[in-house]
Amino acid sequence: MAFTIAIDGPAAAGKGTIGRAVAAHFGFAHLDTGLLYRATGRRMVQGLDAVEAAQSLQASDLEADDLRTPEVGQAASRVAAIPEVRAALVDFQRAFARRSGGAVLDGRDIGTVICPDAEVKLYVTAGDDERARRRHKELCEKGHEVTVEEVLDDLRTRDARDSARATAPLKPADDAILLDTSAMSIEAAVQAAIDLVTKGL
Ligand code: C5P
Repeated sequence: MAFTIAIDGPAAAGKGTIGRAVAAHFGFAHLDTGLLYRATGRRMVQGLDAVEAAQSLQASDLEADDLRTPEVGQAASRVAAIPEVRAALVDFQRAFARRSGGAVLDGRDIGTVICPDAEVKLYVTAGDDERARRRHKELCEKGHEVTVEEVLDDLRTRDARDSARATAPLKPADDAILLDTSAMSIEAAVQAAIDLVTKGL
């Protein structure tokens, strides 16, 4: 049986952590769709045409070590505004979503464009400062030297670009449930998401 959970929201709102934990809880597969755009952006920075990069993306491209850097994040958000790049990545995401056994996909347009018929849609948000604080901690733990102000600026630039683009902009689906995790610990946010999905089962 296919069962799809769509999780969307702005950068560093906790979608990835929540997506992974919800998938583990229900025994579903998880796809962080941001990785597809990050891998495409990374290849563009290396000199490839963005559309060709998206069309020829390999599973091994999703395992590169430097996909999570702010630089690759910015490149991802630039290539993500190109309609042909998005079109090249649709089939893979839809096939993943309808695999048997259930799937959780997180991104920006899962509930609106990729899986408009998803059984459960969550839109996860948190305030800018809280998101920057969390992402800053994550990056520092990985050894990146960056200030909270730089992280905040990075998130705001990407969110603005992601929300303003003409194709598949960042926005909640009309039938998405909003989950604001600003005042929640990650454990509480995960539990809240599991409770919301359980109600939808
Ligand atoms: O989720 P993450 O922050 O890793 O995504 C990196 C970038 O990829 C986002 O800023 C956004 O521009 C793009 N993206 C997208 N649609 C998705 C997932 C990510 O446009 N479904």
